[in-house]
Amino acid sequence: MLVSSRSLDEYRRMFALTDADLAGRVLDCPGGAASLTAEVTAAGGTALACDPVYEHPVEQVRATALESLGRGYAYHQANPDEYVWTYFRDPDHYLESRTRSVELFAADRAARPENYVRAALPALPFADRRFDLVLSSHLLFSYADRFDREFHVASLRELARVGREVRVFPLVPMGMTENPELAPVRAALAAAGLRTSVRPVDYEFQRGGNAMMTITRESGPSPRIGGDGPLT
Ligand SMILES: C[S@@+](CC[C@H](N)C(=O)[O-])C[C@H]1O[C@@H](n2cnc3c(N)ncnc32)[C@H](O)[C@@H]1O
Repeated sequence: MLVSSRSLDEYRRMFALTDADLAGRVLDCPGGAASLTAEVTAAGGTALACDPVYEHPVEQVRATALESLGRGYAYHQANPDEYVWTYFRDPDHYLESRTRSVELFAADRAARPENYVRAALPALPFADRRFDLVLSSHLLFSYADRFDREFHVASLRELARVGREVRVFPLVPMGMTENPELAPVRAALAAAGLRTSVRPVDYEFQRGGNAMMTITRESGPSPRIGGDGPLT
């Protein structure tokens, strides 16, 4: 699996984040080598990342992320039609942006190791409702070949346990534009008392990956997201 390194700006677009969303306690799961936690913390906010890869020292994760980036760069150059080149101008722009995020991540993890917790879904070492907002990018739904429906439902329930609101992006596996697993997973979450909504966002890099899902408890507050409102 790639250890990727998206920036706060990518997270803002993938999850339609506002400054108000980022004013609360934010969890990035999986954090990978993304710079969300570093950038939110540097701006005075409260964010924490968790990922099983944090069992390894920061220099090793940095090297793995740079190696992942090199593989991604080569793949994008060879298969440009599988991607939408609006957010990134071209593969060089992608490489430059994601490299910056790896370096921000590595410097922040070295300076504030307590903000990077080794943990793996579907069981997280956090108290109920510890976070106001939980963001989950490019793990669930992305790796359809590795994780079954049971894992997805258990993981999403766990994210909803530790956070008041969960947002997940993208909702389609790599190389696909539809996800037949989405409806049954949503039905299982509804049966567990969780409310889901799906809406388009102003970000598409992986072709077809342009929607996010929000999860809240049935009894909890409505999602604070603005824009066009839920698709379904
Ligand atoms: C493609 S990266 C995404 C990182 C980051 N969210 C981003 O968008 O840049 C996927 C990450 O999922 C992590 N991962 C793998 N299995 C996991 C699990 N069971 N629970 C949480 N994270 C996991 C990997 O270590 C890897 O860092």
